[in-house]
Amino acid sequence: MNVPHFMLKEIHQQPDVIRHQLDRTISIGIPDRINILACGTSLNAGLIGQFLFEQIAQIPTQVRSSSESLSAPLLETPNTITIAITQSGETADTIAALQQVQSKRVAITNGIDSTITRFADHTIYTNAGEEKSVAATKTFTSQIVLFYKLAFQIAHENQKLSDREFASHLESLKQIPQQMEKLLNENTIVELAQTLKETRDLIILGSGINTAIALEGALKLKEATYTHAEGYAAGEFLHGPIALLDAEIPTLAIVTEDDSRIQKTIDRIRAHGNHVIEITAKSVPELFSPFLAVVALQLLAYHLATLRGIDVDRPRNIAKSLTT
Ligand code: AGP
Repeated sequence: MNVPHFMLKEIHQQPDVIRHQLDRTISIGIPDRINILACGTSLNAGLIGQFLFEQIAQIPTQVRSSSESLSAPLLETPNTITIAITQSGETADTIAALQQVQSKRVAITNGIDSTITRFADHTIYTNAGEEKSVAATKTFTSQIVLFYKLAFQIAHENQKLSDREFASHLESLKQIPQQMEKLLNENTIVELAQTLKETRDLIILGSGINTAIALEGALKLKEATYTHAEGYAAGEFLHGPIALLDAEIPTLAIVTEDDSRIQKTIDRIRAHGNHVIEITAKSVPELFSPFLAVVALQLLAYHLATLRGIDVDRPRNIAKSLTT
């Protein structure tokens, strides 16, 4: 594909990144607790992992920023599995955080033979291919598809998912690349970027599993477009942050097929005369909607950045990974 920037190329590679993961069977056993350590976009992927491990596999799961875990380590039981997730495998805080763990250590990384693999008992590669743009896109998708597969596998092994449910979830996952391709071929996000060209502050709301996508979308918009974007859980937004809104601050809301929770917040924001733009991910079951919602927000970040003349593959002040 002939595209002007690595970020756009990597966004468009995501359907294939998922396809390559579909036939893998990945098993880490059945722990009584899962801890996840990561930074930045990988941390947001970790939040998706937490949702899936708890809600689907029913394993208590904690996520902590690697840097925070150095001063406040997560609690471990003898049968805990700690997952360190890092696309580069070279993030200093995540390497240091994994080194202080006593329980079984699993590294999830895109970095073949990267440093993190030396400190893990077991490494699972995300196989997304090299990601050159500083803003992580396809590696995020490759991380979350692994979390879906791991959570379904654990849930099946510990009988929280029947054979039929397990097969049906895997089938739903198989539909995602095609749905993603449809979204990638639409022009609506370019139009949305044009309407937001002068916007300096933005709120992104999600609910349930998409709260993590609201955070990830806000991170993409901050780093690629220098917009002050903040992600919130929709219900929580009503408890104070809604006071931020005025005519200058639009809200993007991730709306899924059966998400009445977010509608309540949207209605309240509109009742105060403020502007809500709905990012709809209704063509797939809500559980799988993060794949579409995140692509919409990645595209928005990309198009807004290029409209603003930002060097989108190399934004100011940041490097691809923080190795010190
Ligand atoms: C992602 O777009 C960022 N560039 C950044 O937050 C990154 O995810 C973070 O530094 C962690 O990197 P890692 O996944 O290589 O550990």
